[in-house]
Amino acid sequence: MDVLRTAVSVLAHFDADRCAAPADHAANVRKAERLIAQMATAIAVRERIRSGKSLIAPDPTLGHAANFLFMVGGSVPSPVMSRAFDSSLVLYAEHELNASTFSARVTVSTLSDLHSGIVAAIGALKGPLHGGANEEAWRLLEGVGTPEDATAWVDRALARHERIMGFGHRVYKHGDPRAAILKAYCAELARELGDDRWERIAEPIERAVVARKGLSPNVDWPSARLYHYMGLDVGLYTPIFAMARAAGWAAHCIEQVDHNRLMRPRGRYIGPVHRGVPSIDLR
Ligand SMILES: CC(C)(COP(=O)(O)OP(=O)(O)OC[C@H]1O[C@@H](n2cnc3c(N)ncnc32)[C@H](O)[C@@H]1OP(=O)(O)O)[C@@H](O)C(=O)NCCC(=O)NCCS
Repeated sequence: MDVLRTAVSVLAHFDADRCAAPADHAANVRKAERLIAQMATAIAVRERIRSGKSLIAPDPTLGHAANFLFMVGGSVPSPVMSRAFDSSLVLYAEHELNASTFSARVTVSTLSDLHSGIVAAIGALKGPLHGGANEEAWRLLEGVGTPEDATAWVDRALARHERIMGFGHRVYKHGDPRAAILKAYCAELARELGDDRWERIAEPIERAVVARKGLSPNVDWPSARLYHYMGLDVGLYTPIFAMARAAGWAAHCIEQVDHNRLMRPRGRYIGPVHRGVPSIDLR
């Protein structure tokens, strides 16, 4: 996420429309389209360098989702894998006024540029209570290790008042519909790969968290397994969320500057009305 945040910041400097007015709608759409492609490429290139592999040029005959998997993994993904990844990008693309989208809108409401809005959003998405949860969900699954240990693991975690990453949502209190769609893809991919170990571990964890806390899985719970099945390193999970959400962030930023008013909330002071201030010699 640090690399992606810096990459978007640098890309602003080289953007063909960098001198356009902040509210130039057509220029902002062009910037958004470029960024969606550039962010995917930056993540793929960085991953190849990190893992000591040679860079792979994009294949213009592939779609955005398949091309990303190709540039990271070096082989053209199966149709099921491409469809599953494409669906995860669509499901991650936009989700109303979550923390990162709000950060992006606040930033461009000052009439700063689109790239600055996306940089702010990436910073907000990085946190484990927002985008970072899919990485934590994978670590959780690895930590549990076997289906037999799942229920006891959940009990121990809840007894320690820990948050189970990939469960609960500020808006969806009765289940995240995105999670159900990706769960079906997880099952399909596990079948294709001939290894359902992680599905068998995830299932009892889901049942235990629902039973003990009434919390349903959110989108990050199945996406962690999905990306593992695609051979993607866990460090890519949140950047992938960012490359998908770039479409939604950009759409929000464009909407904001098209009808702009500076966002400036007030803080309400709720402390004591009168407080004494001791003179300097008494402090
Ligand atoms: C997403 C999240 C921040 C939304 O929570 P929220 O609406 O702000 O709810 P709160 O943080 O106020 O939590 C309400 C209660 O549910 C509990 N809770 C919420 N999510 C929980 C989780 N994942 N595991 C365990 N307990 C959880 C809280 O501890 C709290 O319990 P309490 O009332 O006994 O203190 C929260 O569910 C969470 O931290 N989930 C894990 C991180 C995650 O998966 N994020 C991705 C979101 S798409």
